[in-house]
Amino acid sequence: MSVPTVVILAAGRGTRMRSATPKVLHDLCGLPLIAWPVAAARAAGAGRVIVVDAPERQLDGHLPEGVETVVQPQSDGTGGAVRAAAHLLEGSGPVLVLSGDVPLVTTQTIGALLDAHASAGAKATVATAVLDDPAGYGRVVRAADGSVERIAETKVPGDADETELAIREVNAGIYVFEAAALLAALPRLSAENAQGEFYLPEVLTLLRADGDHVAAHAMDDPGAVLGVNDLVQLAAVRELARTRIIAAHQRAGVDVLDPGSTFIDATVELGADTVVEPFTVLRGATRAGERCRIGPSTTLTDTVLGDEVTIVHAFGVGALVHSGVSVGPYAYLRPGTLLREGAKVGTFVEVKNSDIGAGTKVPHLSYIGDADVGAGTNLGAGTITANYDGFAKHRTTIGDGVRGGVDVSLVAPVTLGDRSWTAAGSIITQDVPPGALGIARERQSNIPDFEERRGGPPGDAP
Ligand code: UD1
Ligand code: CA
Repeated sequence: MSVPTVVILAAGRGTRMRSATPKVLHDLCGLPLIAWPVAAARAAGAGRVIVVDAPERQLDGHLPEGVETVVQPQSDGTGGAVRAAAHLLEGSGPVLVLSGDVPLVTTQTIGALLDAHASAGAKATVATAVLDDPAGYGRVVRAADGSVERIAETKVPGDADETELAIREVNAGIYVFEAAALLAALPRLSAENAQGEFYLPEVLTLLRADGDHVAAHAMDDPGAVLGVNDLVQLAAVRELARTRIIAAHQRAGVDVLDPGSTFIDATVELGADTVVEPFTVLRGATRAGERCRIGPSTTLTDTVLGDEVTIVHAFGVGALVHSGVSVGPYAYLRPGTLLREGAKVGTFVEVKNSDIGAGTKVPHLSYIGDADVGAGTNLGAGTITANYDGFAKHRTTIGDGVRGGVDVSLVAPVTLGDRSWTAAGSIITQDVPPGALGIARERQSNIPDFEERRGGPPGDAP
């Protein structure tokens, strides 16, 4: 079979979304809607992929590498959108038309549609599906012999009659055309309909009137045809996408304990035998190796975990976590965090733009920002880097094998040498040499006979 050229319609205004964001740029599990049909078409063996954009070029910078764009000069309907791409279709083989707002179309459904088109020897084949709630979709009006007579539009009243409105078989907005037949029909579209627009499905009516064979391919996966016209439909599509993504991880050996409370973007990669506990959200370029334990109640964005990482009740953004690290509960990893092999970041600890060495522990109640910490160091509870002097950020450098006392402030820029110590409650403003103990606090003094002086034992008012 010859390689199909793909045209994806994405120039519509998307008014029903009631949003300033163009419809096909709304997020679906970490990718804009438009990226989904592009990926499915490519995986199904597409040749050129041409996306039809609006004059303001709303999709610039948002399309995958290698995708071509054409501009539809005015928003005059789906037929007008394909017209805008017509000059690129001369002499091409089959033309696969997809809608930018039908994101769950799969590689398999596209493959099945192309096969059905080729084996029917049709000039056009439209994908259809039977929906429980067909509201808003174009209905497939079939002739007595089962062939497709026309598509009756239902977005606004006026195009479909009562009988047609009762039809539950809908146009999926996914088609294959022979290029020459499509190009011959496009100039003949009329805008004499309820919306005053050029409807792409009218091409089917025109071809049929010419005596050409127009086929319909009924899809068995209704999810694959769901269109996104408003935020209610986006939520329904997202739910299907979410389930599909989680099932793929489960089939690859990731144990997702509670799919109902777990959100994993399409872009996330997880290794086998990793366990995802309930209420976990994994977004963007997040990756985890094998045998990790993530969650419960953990949100990771663009965060990379090695193997055998345990991360519980944590929030991570842009962090890199090497193998064998333990994080949380209640930890916040901010961008630029690097936790090296076997490190521990414990309870109520925030780390930002810092390199924490192998085996180093920051177990409790700490803020480590703009710091380089060596290996095998242990920072006491309440260690705070004072990294900001009101004008600029400064770094704190902590060596290997350091033993930090509790409640220590490190006023940057400052360096704790290898195997140095700090005394509890110190405010360290000067470097501590290797092996030394830094003490920087008021000495304790005791007032003798205090009880007598105050006039009685504790509890009695003096
Ligand atoms: C369209 C079909 C309908 C089908 C449904 C499937 C038409 C007239 N109707 O209806 O039969 O059941 O899809 O989801 O085709 N677009 C442009 N330029 C335009 C208008 C639209 O590029 O001038 C793009 C949109 O961005 C969108 C796609 O075409 O990605 C479909 O447009 P939309 O207005 O959502 O059509 P529907 O009313 O859903
Ligand atoms: Ca639509």
